[in-house]
Amino acid sequence: MRFLIVGPGAMGCLFAAHLKRSGTDVALMDHNSERAYFLNSNGIKLTEKDKDNVFNIKIPVVTGRPEFNPDVILVCVKANQTKAVSRTIKNWITTDTAVLTLQNGLGNMEVLESVFKTNIVLGGITSEGATLKGPGCVFHAGRGQTVIGPKVRNRLLVKDIVSVFNDAGFDTTAADNIVDLMWGKLVVNAAINPLTAITGLKNGALLDHEGTKILMERVIFEVMKIVTAKGIDLPYSDPVGHVQDVCRATGSNISSMLQDVLKRRLTEIDYINGAIVKEAEALDIDTPVNRALTLFVKIIEKGYLKNDLS
Ligand code: PAF
Repeated sequence: MRFLIVGPGAMGCLFAAHLKRSGTDVALMDHNSERAYFLNSNGIKLTEKDKDNVFNIKIPVVTGRPEFNPDVILVCVKANQTKAVSRTIKNWITTDTAVLTLQNGLGNMEVLESVFKTNIVLGGITSEGATLKGPGCVFHAGRGQTVIGPKVRNRLLVKDIVSVFNDAGFDTTAADNIVDLMWGKLVVNAAINPLTAITGLKNGALLDHEGTKILMERVIFEVMKIVTAKGIDLPYSDPVGHVQDVCRATGSNISSMLQDVLKRRLTEIDYINGAIVKEAEALDIDTPVNRALTLFVKIIEKGYLKNDLS
């Protein structure tokens, strides 16, 4: 099974490195040719939490069509780039290729389905915690579960991807209730990501402060109103307990949104808390804390994107 991983961020590099190490054919796609050159020359350096060794692995990095026809394209770009990269890939992808997203936020699967009409589009979630320390330098800060599906779309293919991921060391299962699972992940991202981005705290440290603990509970309380109204069946019964468990499991991780802020990049706030506010509006539900966190993160973004802060 041959994989093309799109996006050399923390998650893209993490999956690429482990898949390659377990003997899978994998290439990485990067739109930035300078960085692609750097990654081709230097490979990916992966440091695992609580392990001293750093492993370095070479992976072919392409800026366009790879030399082989991939069986699976794993989309790991930021949600705001999903449409643009999908349109590029669409020009050369064959109908046999499956497209799998493990991205954060709402709406990625819908975008992929609208672009790749004749391909198999699969959704997924992962709670692996990874921080990109520099181009191709990944710190694997916490292990988590990965779930992909729906199984019904192509039972055999999903089974094969699950087995390749497990062989690569990712604890992966298949499920049919992918929308429920994505909402389950959305609750986690909505509670953790903006609060880390605003405070600069690592995931685990959110539990050290009364204020961040209260705000996390408020975010979750608001999202649960939408979850109930939409009839979503979350994959856990205690959302607050679950989010706190993720904070602990990925305690030393810098969340993806804080990584974006530190690198002065556009964040995924519109696809996480911003998307929650929009869903709530359509249902006439009030989500003041999610709205406020969205506005705070946008103020931070605007500061560095327009360069008015420094
Ligand atoms: O976006 C992230 O950083 C991750 O989804 C998670 C699980 C919050 C861990 O940092």
